[in-house]
Amino acid sequence: MHVHRFERLWLVAALAMIVLFIGTVTYGAVGAGYGMVDDTGGQVDPTDATASENFREPGVYNGSEPGHYDVYIEAKQFLFVPGTSDPVRVPANSTVTFHVTSTDVVHGFEVVGTNINTMAVPGQVATITVEFDDPGQYGLVCNEYCGSGHHTMEGSLEVVPPGQFNKSEVN
Ligand code: CUA
Repeated sequence: MHVHRFERLWLVAALAMIVLFIGTVTYGAVGAGYGMVDDTGGQVDPTDATASENFREPGVYNGSEPGHYDVYIEAKQFLFVPGTSDPVRVPANSTVTFHVTSTDVVHGFEVVGTNINTMAVPGQVATITVEFDDPGQYGLVCNEYCGSGHHTMEGSLEVVPPGQFNKSEVN
């Protein structure tokens, strides 16, 4: 059977596009480091997250080794605790694991300008570990529609020079 040269070219181009599109979808799903909020971060009572140890007083805790910190953040309509009324403060040159949960509806937790971004699901604790090399100021925003005050739900994160970070800021 004779297939015209241009016909063959288009067949090849169409096949290449299909392979490319499947490739990009596959990369987005498994290659880019995205994950579902699962139970690796632990669970809390969705009706009373503050009953669980580290959410009783959300904030910055010492991590498992020096230079590591755990930050517990409660998201609720329409605040991050801490984050909204007081900034979250961590020192630069540190490894920080954020533990985020919600005590009412689904919220988002995004550190603006970074790839730190997770859903905050009632009862479920989302964890994200990041390294902060340099001091800086970041905004926090909720990026899941959570009610009439959603657009006001924001906060801030300060990565301060290690010398300006006080031991008393750690719970
Ligand atoms: Cu919380 Cu939108």
